[in-house]
Amino acid sequence: MKHNIGIIYASVDGHTKKICEALQQTLSKENLSSELHHIDHLDFNISEYNTIIIGASVRYGKHNKNIINFIQNNAKQLNTLNTALFSVNLVARKEEKSSPTTNPYMIKLLESINWKADFMEVFAGKLDYKSYGFFDKLMIKLIMKFTNGPTTTDEPIVYTNWEKVHTFGMKIADHIKTLS
Ligand SMILES: Cc1cc2nc3c(=O)[nH]c(=O)nc-3n(C[C@H](O)[C@H](O)[C@H](O)COP(=O)(O)O)c2cc1C
Repeated sequence: MKHNIGIIYASVDGHTKKICEALQQTLSKENLSSELHHIDHLDFNISEYNTIIIGASVRYGKHNKNIINFIQNNAKQLNTLNTALFSVNLVARKEEKSSPTTNPYMIKLLESINWKADFMEVFAGKLDYKSYGFFDKLMIKLIMKFTNGPTTTDEPIVYTNWEKVHTFGMKIADHIKTLS
């Protein structure tokens, strides 16, 4: 039987989407096709999928509220599926804050949703001061100052460890193979 994978994401500047696409590539090399859905354009029934992967970035300390609502509203059904959840944020660039049990945003998210995916991960995101408006720039500078990161950059910095993304995708793929 064909294994159907749905990836649902929330992304404001597109970086979480990029991570989803990297995951899709890993899955595709393992002969697993997947469909990508933005959280604000969900036009499917969750029961169409055997595996659901959910990814969201952090803005001002929080994950996208539609992602949280989606998880809350579908927790029961998600529990019957193979699932994965990942968070993208800048604090995760620090090794000691880069896992689901050590990243403050992931910890907070898991406490608030009462649901755990079979596979969970945290990825460091992208820092691009030039693309931020005045207020956002100020806030990100503050966040970076508090966490000893750069407060100016000439070029965007992508902190994402793509090998970690690939490893996450392989874990999901390997598990799917045990199901069929
Ligand atoms: C307005 C704004 C607020 C952010 N707030 C946080 C934050 O509170 N903590 C953090 O670790 N990263 C924060 N980030 C960093 C983002 O999580 C990071 O840039 C991520 O790559 C964005 O992914 P996206 O393009 O998929 O939305 C913030 C970024 C922006 C632009």
